[in-house]
Amino acid sequence: MGSYDKPDFWSQKAQKEAYPARSVYKLKEMDEKFSLFRPSGGGRKVLDLGAAPGSWSLYALRKSPALDLTAVDLSPLSRDFDRGLFEGENFSFLQGDMTDPGIREAIRARGPFDLVMSDAAPATSGNRSLDTLRSLALAETALDYGERFLRGGGTLILKIFQGGQSAALLKRIQRSFESAKAFKPQACRSNSFETYFVGMKFKAAVLPKDA
Ligand SMILES: C[S@@+](CC[C@H](N)C(=O)[O-])C[C@H]1O[C@@H](n2cnc3c(N)ncnc32)[C@H](O)[C@@H]1O
Repeated sequence: MGSYDKPDFWSQKAQKEAYPARSVYKLKEMDEKFSLFRPSGGGRKVLDLGAAPGSWSLYALRKSPALDLTAVDLSPLSRDFDRGLFEGENFSFLQGDMTDPGIREAIRARGPFDLVMSDAAPATSGNRSLDTLRSLALAETALDYGERFLRGGGTLILKIFQGGQSAALLKRIQRSFESAKAFKPQACRSNSFETYFVGMKFKAAVLPKDA
């Protein structure tokens, strides 16, 4: 077992660095690889789907304090580490189901976005086929948000449990973005079947914006 595989390596690091969840290191790796956030991120709009307890949002706001960020989750965000960042005028949190039409409308009103990122995942049941199907449904919803509400040239990141129709979803991303790839951060648990799909340079106008 390598040091990264120790059950609490990333959780302890997250505690020390004042993040509520270890998942922040997955985003950090993707940021290092794909340059998602810049310190001078003012004016850029980001949508964070499946945001609770809030590590990805905190990472984004710490790195780009002037970012305009909308976060969505069924559960509330943790307020243990945000030091007021979740109270800024440039931050909105929508508590609800990202598949709900009311939430969708609230998201639409805050767009268009430069980056749509989804770490949304179903509560796992232990039945891999079922969990994969539920993850696919969330990933399809995230891609739908990307295709409807990203600006041309924008970036999409979504989490997906590998298997089932995930390869077909990657093909759909390949059609809508100039570049599309799967990326598995080292911070993913070694026994996890999750991965991330990254679409860069959205081609725009694949679908009408208000559809
Ligand atoms: C792995 S956690 C996200 C961790 C987060 N990125 C962070 O860094 O703190 C997955 C989240 O997806 C959310 N989720 C699952 N289904 C959802 C849905 N239909 N709508 C909104 N959020 C959902 C869960 O409530 C959970 O908080």
